[in-house]
Amino acid sequence: MTAKVISFINMKGGVGKTSLSINIADKLSERHSVLVIDVDPQFNATQSLLMYRSLLAKEYQQDELFPALSNENESDSANQESHARLKLEDESSEFFTKLSDNGRTVLQIFQPSTMNRHADIIQHISENLHLIPGDLNLASTVSGDTSDKIEVLDKYLKDEKLNESYAYIIIDCPPTWSILTHASLFASQYYVIPSRIDFYSSLGIELLQKKINLTLLSSMLYTKGLKHLRNLGIIYTMTHGGQVYEVNRKKKIKESLLSKKIDHLEDVSVFDSELPNVPSAAVKFIMYSNVSSDNRYSNLTNSIDRITKELSEKIGNEEDL
Ligand SMILES: Nc1ncnc2c1ncn2[C@@H]1O[C@H](COP(=O)(O)OP(=O)(O)O)[C@@H](O)[C@H]1O
Ligand SMILES: [Mg+2]
Repeated sequence: MTAKVISFINMKGGVGKTSLSINIADKLSERHSVLVIDVDPQFNATQSLLMYRSLLAKEYQQDELFPALSNENESDSANQESHARLKLEDESSEFFTKLSDNGRTVLQIFQPSTMNRHADIIQHISENLHLIPGDLNLASTVSGDTSDKIEVLDKYLKDEKLNESYAYIIIDCPPTWSILTHASLFASQYYVIPSRIDFYSSLGIELLQKKINLTLLSSMLYTKGLKHLRNLGIIYTMTHGGQVYEVNRKKKIKESLLSKKIDHLEDVSVFDSELPNVPSAAVKFIMYSNVSSDNRYSNLTNSIDRITKELSEKIGNEEDL
C-alpha cells in the first residue's frame, strides 16, 4: 500500500476547508485506513475529531448532544448548548491539553524536542480513522529561517512508514502561505482547493497556484519528475443549489483562471459535486456523520458521499495516466 497524500488548501479561511477534509476522511475511513494531519495552528480539525473520538467512545444520543439540530425551530435554538455536549467538549479538551503538554502533536514533526522525540503522536479516533493533532504553538515555527523544514513532514511519513500503513493521508493546511503549507504540499501528491463561490475566490486560487508553481513545481525535483504534485480541482462549498448568480460567478471564476497565463493553471478543474450551505451545520465542531440519521441533513451527507467518490475517481484517473 502506498498512501495517497492529499492537502486541503486555500489562501482564504472560512471556506469549509476543515469541514470538508475531516468529513471526507471520515467517509473514506469506512473502507480504508485514513490518517488526518492537522497542520493548521487553529487546530479546528483536531477539536472536531477529538470530540468525535469521545463521542464514539461514549455512545451519547444525538439529540442529547445537538439539541439545536433536533429542534424544529432552528433560529430559537441555534446557540443552544447541551449539558452532554459541554461535558464532551470538556473531556476532549482535557485530553488535548495532556497531549499538547507532552508534546504529542504535529509540533513534534516541525520542532522535535529531544525529550519526546519518539513519543507516539498518532491518536485513534475510530478503528480506521487516525489523527496527528494540531498545535497552537505551530505558528511560532513559522518565524526565522525555515528552509530546513520544507522536507520534515515528507521525511516523517517515510521514516515512520506511514505511507505504507495508510491508504489515505489527509492534510488540513493553514489558510496562509508559510513553511507549514510548503511542507504539507511537499509531502503530498495531490491537493484540492475548497472554495466558496464568491467574488474573491479566483484571486485566492490564482495566488495559490502562482505560489505552488514558484516554490514547488518549478524546482528540480518536480521538473525532473522525481516528485509529483497534482491539483485535483476546486470543490465549491456552502453553495445554494445552483442559483443563477452562482452559475454566473462560477463561469467568471473559471474564465478568470483560464485567462491568466501561468503554467499549470489550465489544470484547474472543478468538482461536479458541491458542499451545500446548511446554516445549522455550523454548530461548533460537528461531524456530519453525527447528524446523518436526520433527513434534514441528508443533502449534506449525500454531498460528502459524492465528493469523496469523485475524489477517489480523480485519483484513480491520475494513476492511469
Ligand atoms: N455545509 C455547511 N453549511 C454552512 N456552514 C458550514 C457548513 N460546513 C461548515 N460550516 C461552517 O462554516 C465555518 C467555516 O468552516 P471551516 O470548515 O472551519 O472552514 P475553514 O477550515 O476553511 O476555515 C464554520 O463555522 C463551520 O461550522
Ligand atoms: Mg480550518
